[in-house]
Amino acid sequence: MSNSRRKFIKKSILLSASIPIISSGLLSCNNNNDKPLSILILGGTSFLGPHQIKYALARGHKVSIFTRGKTKPNVNVAVFNKVEHLIGDREHNLSALENRKWDVVIDNSGRNVEWTKKTAQLLKDNCQLYVYTSSTGVYFPYKTADIKESQKVLHKMPDNIDDEFLKMEYGYGVMKANSEQETIKAFGKERSIIVRPTYMFGPGDKTDRFMHWPVRLAKGGEILVPGKTEDPVQYIDVRDVAEFMIRLAEQKAAGIYNAVGPSNKETMLNFVTKTQNIFDVESTLIQIDDYEFLKEHKVYYLVPWIPIDELSYGSARVSNNFSIKNGLTFRETKTSIKETHNWWYSDNLTDERRAKFEQKENSVLMKEKEIIAAWKKKTKI
Ligand SMILES: NC(=O)c1ccc[n+]([C@@H]2O[C@H](COP(=O)([O-])OP(=O)(O)OC[C@H]3O[C@@H](n4cnc5c(N)ncnc54)[C@H](OP(=O)(O)O)[C@@H]3O)[C@@H](O)[C@H]2O)c1
Repeated sequence: MSNSRRKFIKKSILLSASIPIISSGLLSCNNNNDKPLSILILGGTSFLGPHQIKYALARGHKVSIFTRGKTKPNVNVAVFNKVEHLIGDREHNLSALENRKWDVVIDNSGRNVEWTKKTAQLLKDNCQLYVYTSSTGVYFPYKTADIKESQKVLHKMPDNIDDEFLKMEYGYGVMKANSEQETIKAFGKERSIIVRPTYMFGPGDKTDRFMHWPVRLAKGGEILVPGKTEDPVQYIDVRDVAEFMIRLAEQKAAGIYNAVGPSNKETMLNFVTKTQNIFDVESTLIQIDDYEFLKEHKVYYLVPWIPIDELSYGSARVSNNFSIKNGLTFRETKTSIKETHNWWYSDNLTDERRAKFEQKENSVLMKEKEIIAAWKKKTKI
């Protein structure tokens, strides 16, 4: 396995991993029975949760969240005055969840099979529906294209994996797959909703994985576009995932769903070309399609782009057909990037936090001019 891939895997594990039919502006409760739901979110204060809460409240539902009280939200902060905040620890203290009833539980913070097993078992008689936030990581290694929800996933790590980072990648997928199973064991297929998002981006992102693009596109000039012309990308606005999940819960739409965008197939070059002009600046794209050159210059990935190899072949070729049929909708990428940019430069974040990312040593943002100059020299542009 390549060094770049290792670095990418390590990073993703450490950090983890439309025009709406019903736009977020439509605020009336619109579930199956038009009856407001009581929703418990395990987690809720990080990235996905604040958007689920905003949407759920706007549609008339009641929300409780369960956390240790450590993570502070940096988006939709005002909505937290309107939710019940239960304190505990998924590791050893679930007492705040005992003898309580909710219609729906959404498990965002399930990063450990035992955690999901315990909460699903504890809540199975007191909640109607368990919604587990999984990941397209369950499909690792991504060896095929058009990956549907029915694809077999690994529930056990292969025995012969020695590589530390490969173990982590397999480990994440297997953990998510087994957590899905614990959900289904406790709630049965008819009361379980499993949602598998691809890379999420948008306001509130704590991983900084996608922030390169909103920051970079706004500056203009010569923009490095990594990857071969045919390299596919997939990504999704976190709000599209959050809203889809709440609507699935309203419809009691048990099943497994790939939460993957954009709606149609896209390459990395398509992605940058379509977003290049959203800010009022002049820019030129400089595509660098030589993986070895990129690696030499420490461009190991630039999400949504990752280099395509045997193991990542299908990672951006996951099917979203079933989810679209069941109501997954997409904001326009241009709008998402603009709004993410606005959030990044808002008072929700400190200058220090922005500087930590924008002035990070050896980042593409910092070294782009140098890399482009080296590329021009090599290719004699
Ligand atoms: N980001 C992506 O691109 C991506 C892609 C695919 C899937 N996913 C999945 O999406 C899900 C949601 O991610 P997220 O970033 O919104 O949330 P997250 O990072 O998974 O969870 C953070 C939340 O969990 C709480 N928490 C952490 N440890 C806890 C503990 N021991 N006991 C109780 N609560 C605890 C945190 O609050 P406290 O710290 O206060 O406890 C916080 O509210 C994750 O399951 C992730 O695997 C993410």
